[in-house]
Order: sequence, then structure tokens, then C-alpha cells
Amino acid sequence: MKIFNVAFLGAGRMGMTHLRNLIGVPGVRVRVVADPILAAAQAGAAAVNAERASSDIEATINASDVDVVMIATPTGTHAELIERAVRAGKPVWCEKPVAMTLAGTEHVVQTVEASKHPVMIGFMRRFDPGYAAAKHAIEAGEVGRIERFRALSCDTTPPPLAFIKTSGGIFVDMMVHDFDMARFLVGEIEEVSAWGAALIDPGFAEAGDVDTCVAMLRFANGAVGTIEGTRRATWGYDIRTEIAGSKAKLVVEAQNKTPLLMARNVGHEGDYFQSFPDRFETAYKGEMAYFIDCLQKGQMPSPGVRDALASLRVALAATQSLREGRPVKISEVSAQ
Ligand SMILES: NC(=O)c1ccc[n+]([C@@H]2O[C@H](COP(=O)([O-])OP(=O)(O)OC[C@H]3O[C@@H](n4cnc5c(N)ncnc54)[C@H](O)[C@@H]3O)[C@@H](O)[C@H]2O)c1
Repeated sequence: MKIFNVAFLGAGRMGMTHLRNLIGVPGVRVRVVADPILAAAQAGAAAVNAERASSDIEATINASDVDVVMIATPTGTHAELIERAVRAGKPVWCEKPVAMTLAGTEHVVQTVEASKHPVMIGFMRRFDPGYAAAKHAIEAGEVGRIERFRALSCDTTPPPLAFIKTSGGIFVDMMVHDFDMARFLVGEIEEVSAWGAALIDPGFAEAGDVDTCVAMLRFANGAVGTIEGTRRATWGYDIRTEIAGSKAKLVVEAQNKTPLLMARNVGHEGDYFQSFPDRFETAYKGEMAYFIDCLQKGQMPSPGVRDALASLRVALAATQSLREGRPVKISEVSAQ
């Protein structure tokens, strides 16, 4: 088995989660962790026993002892870093989303496709055992004709308002995972109608965003769906999806983190997941293992930049619907 030498960019909240999950992924050696904050790069390098830490991002991407670039930097930097890495001739794995604008994402699609280098985007839910099994059941025809899609995404605690201001909004930053699941499991979305409110913190409204949202979806194959989201759930991280068809209903839901239910006093108690690092740990490990396996086999990984473009289009349509108070067709959303 070939060992791929990885340059890992961005050792923040998500970067540290991915670095820890990379330990034990076959065929990976994290050679260098780079972050403009050297102390962060050093902490990341120490977590995976990498050879070095660096604050020089350009030199890290171009280093001759680096075969693969992995990116977990703030969203606004993804497009430029992906393009720099493929221009340096290196395969890339990058966190979602590629960019917050259609024009920015389309530019990356063109650069990546012209380069022919493998680029995978981190829509990790596709690698969760529950969602993967749902996909398998749908493809095997066990659900029949899909009629309804229903998703609920509740983050446990809101991110800092400084992050919200640069996040692109709840649909682009957070609900994009649900739009990706909707596309993955049901098919392309044609139209979206969204509502939202700032109920948790007025800072969301000041940042031009909402913290609580609902969207209705109309799919090209005739199915209909809803998604609901919130930036805060005092009871814990709560992610659920339901797909109903002519033959069966699928429910993807991981209720208890610990497989223990204590029943007493005509009731019961169990525990929820804390947040995405524990709920989707298997998925994060799975997406990395799959990406490296694709590189081993010389195959193009999926989801790629075109999936990021398609889900961004839906997220932007939802954002437009929220602002204009009307249903928005995906075809209305075009690069400015
Ligand atoms: N897939 C998921 O479940 C999931 C969950 C949370 C966040 N994310 C995504 O992960 C990304 C990072 O989010 P975060 O919460 O970890 O952010 P963060 O701010 O905690 O960390 C980002 C790190 O990148 C560093 N950085 C900034 N510019 C850089 C550059 N040019 N090169 C290298 N490093 C740079 C920062 O110094 C910081 O240490 C975002 O795009 C976000 O959308 C994905």
C-alpha cells in the first residue's frame, strides 16, 4: 500500500477533529500541519505526530515531500487553497462549502476539472452508516417511489457571532448538509420556500442571519420535502432524517450516544450526542479512508466540487426565499 504524505491546512475546531480522526486511516502520514497561527499548527502537528508545523501556507502546499493537501480552514479561504493545491498538482480533500458564492464555486469547478486532479468535498454524512444504508436501500428499490423527505438539524450550541458574520448564513453554512442529503437520497431539488427567525440571540439578526429555519423542497422527480434547523438545542445534538416511499419508510436517527437506557418511575433516561465530532466520528473517519482508498485505486472521489455547487445553489435559493418571502426556483439562482 502506498503511503500518502499529507499537508493539513487549518488546525482550528474542525481541523483538530479531522487530524485526530486521521490517526489509524490506512495509507496516510500527516507530514505537515500548517496554520497562520503557528501555535495552532504546532498543536495540530503534535496531535498526529507530524514531522513539522508551519505558518507558511504557500510553501506547505508546494513542498516536494507533500502528495496530498487537506483543507479545514475558514470557508472564505477554501476556493483559493483548492485552486493553489491542484495547480501544484496535488489531490485535495476540503471541508464544505467550496465558497459562499456561485461565481466563486464555479471558478473552482472549472479549475479542478481542467486540472483533472481528484478533489473531494467533506459532506461527511454520506459516510455515516445510517445514511449510507439508507442510500443502499433506496438504490435497491426497497423504498419504492420516494414521496416525502424530512430532515431536522439541531446544533447544540451556536457558534460565536464573529463566525456567523462570515459563515454565509444558516442555509449555506449549516443546512447545506441537509440539502446534500436531500440530493444524495432523493434527487435534484427544483424549488425551495424558506422561513426563519432569530429566536436564540438578536446578534443573528444584526449579522443578517437567522438561528431557526424551516424550508420546503420540491424535487424534480415529484417528491416533496421539509427541513428544519436550529443553532441551539439545549437537550443535545439532534439530527434526524426520514424518507417515505410507496413501499417503506427509512428513518436515520442516532438517539443515544451510550447504548444504555435507564427505565424507572414510568419513564426512561438516555444520553444524546454532544455535537458533530462525536455524532459523526465514524463518518469523518469513513470519508478520509474512502478518499485515500480512491487515491490508491486511481479513482475520482465523490462528493466533489459539482456536488458542492449543486447544494450551494439550493442553499442560496433558500436564503433568497427567506429574504424575499416567496418560493424560489433553483434555476433562478445564477452567478452575479
Ligand atoms: N463537516 C462538518 O461537520 C463541519 C463542521 C464544522 C465546520 N465545518 C467547516 O470547517 C471549516 C473550518 O471551520 P472551523 O470551525 O474549524 O474554523 P476555525 O476558525 O475554528 O479554524 C480555522 C483554522 O484555520 C486557520 N486558517 C485561517 N486561514 C488559513 C489559511 N489560509 N491556511 C491555513 N490555515 C488557515 C485559522 O487560523 C484556524 O486555526 C469551515 O469551512 C466550516 O464550514 C465543517
